[in-house]
Formats: sequence, structure tokens, C-alpha cells
Amino acid sequence: MRTLPALRRALSGIKSKDVALVPTMGALHAGHIALVRKARRRARHVVVSIFVNPAQFAPTEDLGNYPKTWQADIATLTAEKATLVWAPPVATMYPDGFATRIEPAGPAKAGLEDKFRPHFFGGVATVVTKLFTQTGAGFAMFGEKDYQQLCMVTQLVRDLDLPLRIVPVPTVREKDGLALSSRNVYLDAAERAAAPVLHRVLKASARRIKAGETIAAVLDDGRDEIGRADFALDYFEARHARTLAPVGSVKDGPIRLLVAARIGRTRLIDNIAV
Ligand code: PAJ
Repeated sequence: MRTLPALRRALSGIKSKDVALVPTMGALHAGHIALVRKARRRARHVVVSIFVNPAQFAPTEDLGNYPKTWQADIATLTAEKATLVWAPPVATMYPDGFATRIEPAGPAKAGLEDKFRPHFFGGVATVVTKLFTQTGAGFAMFGEKDYQQLCMVTQLVRDLDLPLRIVPVPTVREKDGLALSSRNVYLDAAERAAAPVLHRVLKASARRIKAGETIAAVLDDGRDEIGRADFALDYFEARHARTLAPVGSVKDGPIRLLVAARIGRTRLIDNIAV
């Protein structure tokens, strides 16, 4: 569907509890497919949105060359029995004169992704709110891969009383631990070989923190190891798993470790539960 009237017609008479939404920017991989499969277990109808959202890219970021694999995406979603694909043009999502932006705080201002991509969560919050109201879905699937995004959207839905449930989906990984991402295609062979260090460090750090080691010392070791693998580190942090507030020890609540680092031209993020 490419227009709102067509979308509304296709979904008319269907109850929101029977619709599960999977918001994506396309270039689908097994991580997205895990969301589609979880959606199919939740609801009779699965709506997948494919929309590369200009509002969440900074002028310096990869909006213009974000990978596009439309034909393959449609073939995949047909095989997965998605009910419909919602793929509006930019001018439908943001018509001339569009003037509203949702500015999320709380987990969206935790000093993680927001520190490096100040435009990002406002753009995501605005577009997902539109996707929720456009589709009237009763459920929306979000990957734990983008953990701060998942926390932000959960808070957004609670704060604005949006009538749907956010369903988290565990991160899908390559055999060597690298989290699947549409941006992995940017990695050259040497970068690809180095990339699993992120998941290795996350796993080892979670194990050590669980075993009682001091969080600060474990994080310092992790930062060193990631640096030695030729990554430029943006952050490697331990945070409260829901609020994303800083934590000093395991007593401060359920903990999530989150990392973002750059190798070559590519920025990778990952996270793990302690
Ligand atoms: P995109 O990067 O295409 O991701 C779409 C969804 O797939 C997100 O919920 C993301 O967390 C999930 N996902 C990506 N890689 C995954 C993996 N390896 N395992 C499990 N889930 C994974 O995130 C966005 O698009 C956009 O910000 C969007 C929410 C669509 C708003 O524009």
C-alpha cells in the first residue's frame, strides 16, 4: 500500500487486536524476519512498514545510500505470509507544511545513542507514532538490537496512552556473534573479521559482572579490548535495563550493557542483559 486511503481500505473492519505491526526501513535480513514471525504468532494480520525515515537521519548520515532491496524484501514478506506492506512515499508521511515533532525524553536522553545522534529519537518517535495511528495495530514488534529505541518506544506508548502493546524480540546474530544489521553490508573483509569483538566483550563482561566483579573495572577492560580491535569506541556502558539510568552495582536493578563503536565508515551497536 502506498496511500493512506488504500491502507485504510485494506484494514477496514479488522480489529486492532488482530493486527501486529513490524516497522522497518527495508533491506530486510533474518533479524527483521524474526520480528515478522513473532508478529504472526501474536495476530492474524501482519503489517510490515518499509519506510526509510528522513526525520531520523542527520545531514551527515547515510540516508542517501541506505541499502535498498525492494524486490527481495517483497519476495521475503510474501514467503513469510505478511498481510500487507505499508510503504508510503516521503511526501505522504511528511506532506508540505508538516509541522509536528515528538521529542521523547527519559530513556531517549540517556546519553547513549542520543549523544551521538541528537536527531535520531525525535525522528523515530514521530514516525512510529504515525505508523501506530495509520495502521491501528494492537501490537508492534521492536528488536532488542536497538535497545535504547525499544526503551524509548515503550515509554512513548505509556506516556501518550497509545492503545497498543510493544513486543520486544531478541537479537538475531551471525554464527560468530555479530548482530545482524542492514549496515553490515558496509563492512569490508577485515572489518567484518574484527566485528564479532563487540558481542564477545559484551558476553564476557556480563559474565564477570554477574560473578561479582566491579562494574567499572569490567567496563574498562572491555573498552581496552574493543580499542585493540581497531574500533573507535563511542560508548560501552552499564545501565538500568528499563530506565537506562547509570548503575554502580548489580544492586541498582536489572542491568543492560550497551556498546556503540565505529570501524572504518561503519558504526555498529549491540547490547546484552547481565
Ligand atoms: P530497522 O533498522 O530497519 O529495524 C527494524 C526493526 O528490526 C527494529 O525494531 C530493529 O530493532 C529490528 N532489528 C534490526 N536488526 C535486528 C536483529 N539483528 N535482531 C532482531 N531485531 C533486529 O529500527 C528501525 O529500522 C527504525 O528506527 C524504525 C523503527 C523502522 C523507525 O523508522
